[in-house]
This record gives sequence, structure tokens and C-alpha cells, in this order.
Amino acid sequence: MPWETLHEMLFALLLYLACLLPEVMMDQKTKEVYCRFNTTVLLMGTNLNASSIFNVEWHAQLNGREKVSILTYSPGSNNIYINESYRKRVVFAHMNFSLTIHYVTFSDEGVYTLTIQLLNNQQQIGRTKVTVIIPVSNVHITSETSVPHQGKNITLNCLGMAGTAMSYSWQKCNQPLPIGNRTILSKDNASLTFINIQQSDIGNYRCVAQNVLSSGHKDFILQLCAETGVSPWWSYGIYGYPGYLGYAIVLFYIFSWVKRTRKSSSKGQSDAIYENTAFENTPTNNGKRVPPVYIRHIKK
Ligand SMILES: *[C@@H]1O[C@H](CO)[C@@H](O)[C@H](O)[C@H]1NC(C)=O
Ligand SMILES: *[C@@H]1O[C@H](CO)[C@@H](O)[C@H](O)[C@H]1NC(C)=O
Ligand SMILES: *[C@@H]1O[C@H](CO)[C@@H](O)[C@H](O)[C@H]1NC(C)=O
Ligand SMILES: *[C@@H]1O[C@H](CO)[C@@H](O)[C@H](O)[C@H]1NC(C)=O
Ligand SMILES: *[C@@H]1O[C@H](CO)[C@@H](O)[C@H](O)[C@H]1NC(C)=O
Ligand SMILES: *[C@@H]1O[C@H](CO)[C@@H](O)[C@H](O)[C@H]1NC(C)=O
Ligand SMILES: *[C@@H]1O[C@H](CO)[C@@H](O)[C@H](O)[C@H]1NC(C)=O
Repeated sequence: MPWETLHEMLFALLLYLACLLPEVMMDQKTKEVYCRFNTTVLLMGTNLNASSIFNVEWHAQLNGREKVSILTYSPGSNNIYINESYRKRVVFAHMNFSLTIHYVTFSDEGVYTLTIQLLNNQQQIGRTKVTVIIPVSNVHITSETSVPHQGKNITLNCLGMAGTAMSYSWQKCNQPLPIGNRTILSKDNASLTFINIQQSDIGNYRCVAQNVLSSGHKDFILQLCAETGVSPWWSYGIYGYPGYLGYAIVLFYIFSWVKRTRKSSSKGQSDAIYENTAFENTPTNNGKRVPPVYIRHIKK
């Protein structure tokens, strides 16, 4: 009985090693190459002197497919065999054994191995992992509305029309987007949602889509829709129309009123400041308050 358990344990250990070993080797030696779809990829050879080499082989473990032999070459006899289906689009360098593949497609993705048998029976192995990429292009941002009302939610959806293995990120006014309670990113960062949108959310937003070979972006200018209907009285304060603009006008009036009172007491101030107080022309009975003309227009 214990003998059988030992067998099982040994078997399990072997299985474990069989799965583990190739990975360990890959981590140490495999180079990564990213190339654009339908372009040319150069798989590096070696700088060994050909006179010390018995045989050279290129083969590939294509993603999710069988292992394919691409070519074998023996420098001594100058014999070369190239797989029929690769003959038209690979170039092999006899001096350094590099392999050039033209017109790569997604079916070329995988790990390419160069095995060199030396005359002294030693062996050199080099691996290159090839990933085919379509560059990012045509980045779009869509949303239900471009000019939302204050307090509403709005979602911006970003999408690169072309491009593989893309990741998304967002900027506001060229800075990384500050993530707060009211700005929510989808899991893949492609969608940005504003909850209870406020004046402070107004600005220029940029979606950046990128992959290892390229990046693209699209800008979106977020504005708020001005309220047109009848608003409750409190919305004339911080929240609603005229909001900050209203405050600016009040301050402006106070400012120009103070200027005028000062000027009447002390002469010789600059004309420029005085000229800027254009609102002076509008009839006002009381300089300290919001111009009545403006309020009347809003309340209608
Ligand atoms: C690949 O590129 C060649 C020219 O470089 C072009 O003629 C061909 O149409 C392209 N194929 C694809 C699938 O894009
Ligand atoms: C090997 O030779 C090819 C063609 O002659 C060249 O393009 C490549 O840069 C060379 N070097 C290596 C390390 O493969
Ligand atoms: C390779 O080695 C041989 C002899 O060992 C030498 O004659 C030859 O010049 C070497 N070739 C290169 C390219 O280094
Ligand atoms: C040659 O390449 C084709 C296509 O990749 C593959 O199906 C075939 O098995 C290869 N031949 C050998 C001998 O590996
Ligand atoms: C905005 O989203 C929040 C959270 O998802 C939700 O509670 C709220 O009802 C939404 N508001 C509107 C106006 O749709
Ligand atoms: C976010 O919400 C939490 C809980 O609702 C609150 O404690 C926190 O102060 C909020 N942070 C900001 C920046 O508004
Ligand atoms: C989403 O963006 C944040 C930064 O805003 C980043 O830390 C995170 O890694 C991104 N997630 C994905 C899946 O790209």
C-alpha cells in the first residue's frame, strides 16, 4: 500500500515538473518581440562562428496549434530545408542564422526557437515570443448627451476603432484624471461616468488608448446646459443659474462702486480701470446689489 502511494506521489511530482520546467526556461531566455500586422519581423540569430556548428534548426510553437518546423540548415554541407508553406515569405541569413518573416498575421503568433547543434555535441537554444499588434487608430468618445444638465449623470465611452490589446486612461486638462466619489471608471477604464455633475466638472477631458506599439487619443469638452425653465429661488445662489457668473457680477459691482466712491474723494486715478467698468452704463439705483435688469430677465 505505501509503495502505491509513493508511486502516485512520484507521478504527481513528475507531472508538476513537466508543467513547470518549460515555463521556468521561458522566463529566463525568451525574448519578446511585438510587430505590426502585415509587416516584417526579424528573429535574431547568433554570433557563433559557422565553422564550429553542425546543424541549425528554426521551429515554432504557434499559439494554440501544433509545433511546426520552419527550416533546418547544416553549414558543413550547406544543405538547407525550408518548410513549403514558409518558403515564399521567410529569409534566412546563412552567416548569423537570423530569420526574417514577411507579412506576419495573427496565426504567426507564438514562440520561435532557434536550436544550434555544435560540433562538440553541445547545444544552444534561443527563444523569441512573437506578438502581432494592430496599431491604435480612430479613437472615439460617445455619450448620450454632450451638454448635460447640472446634477445629472453622464457617461463617456471611449473606443479605438482599430487596435489590439488596448488599454485606456483619462486625463483632465492634460493631467491624470483625479478619481473622486463622483467620477467612476469602468473596469477596463474605457468608460468614465460622472455622478451628479457639477460646475467643477466642466473642462477638457481626454481619453488615451494605447498598446505596446502605438497610442491615440480623443478630446471631449464637457459643458453644462444652462437652466432655462423657472428655477426655485435658492438656485440663484451657489448651485444654479447665474451661479459663479452671478457672483462675479455682484463682486464686480461692489468693486466698481468702491472705486467710484474712492475716486470722488481722491482724484488722479488711472483711466484704464475706470474704462473697464462697462456695467456703469446700465441704470442701477443701488450699486451694491445684483443688477435688477439681469434678474428680471432670468425670472421672466
Ligand atoms: C499587406 O501588405 C501588402 C503590401 O505591403 C498589401 O498589398 C496587402 O494588401 C496587405 N494585406 C493586408 C491583409 O493588409
Ligand atoms: C544577421 O544578418 C541579417 C542579414 O544579413 C541582419 O539583418 C541582422 O541584423 C544580422 N544580425 C543578427 C544578430 O541577426
Ligand atoms: C571562423 O573560424 C575559422 C577557423 O576557426 C576562421 O578561419 C574564420 O575566419 C572564422 N570566421 C569568422 C567569420 O570569424
Ligand atoms: C510546415 O508549415 C505548415 C504550416 O505552418 C505546418 O502545418 C506543417 O506541419 C509544417 N511542416 C512541418 C514538417 O513541420
Ligand atoms: C446617478 O447615479 C447614481 C449612482 O449610480 C444614482 O443613485 C442616481 O440616481 C443617478 N442620478 C440620475 C439623475 O440618474
Ligand atoms: C467620498 O465619500 C465618502 C463616503 O461617502 C466620504 O467620507 C468622503 O469624504 C468623500 N470624499 C470626497 C473627496 O468627497
Ligand atoms: C485604469 O486607470 C488607472 C489609473 O487611472 C490605472 O491605475 C489602472 O491600472 C487602469 N486599469 C486598467 C485595466 O487599465
